[in-house]
Amino acid sequence: PRVVFVRPDGTKQEADASDGASVMQAATANLVPGIVAECGGELSCATCHVFVDEQWLGALPARSEDEEEMLEATSEEPTDASRLCCQITLDASLDGIVVHIPKTQK
Ligand code: FES
Repeated sequence: PRVVFVRPDGTKQEADASDGASVMQAATANLVPGIVAECGGELSCATCHVFVDEQWLGALPARSEDEEEMLEATSEEPTDASRLCCQITLDASLDGIVVHIPKTQK
């Protein structure tokens, strides 16, 4: 599935990943700036914070309690659209998902 990353300046970068990969893995494999993913997907760093595009929010399962907790540690104030993108697993239903990179993470 494809993931569209939108940088704080509005530039878009598209990344391709396999089914079962996370949005974070799509970002790091394609060197998308701003997704540091320090903990490698262990839900303990909050440096993979993204804002999911409104259109795609409904397509995602709810955040887990652990994710909610870690979202309190992001560098940019989280909103209802906030996710830690190592927790978003890609499949065909998410092909083309659009996520925005927080400006504090460029
Ligand atoms: Fe560390 Fe997602 S990569 S919380």
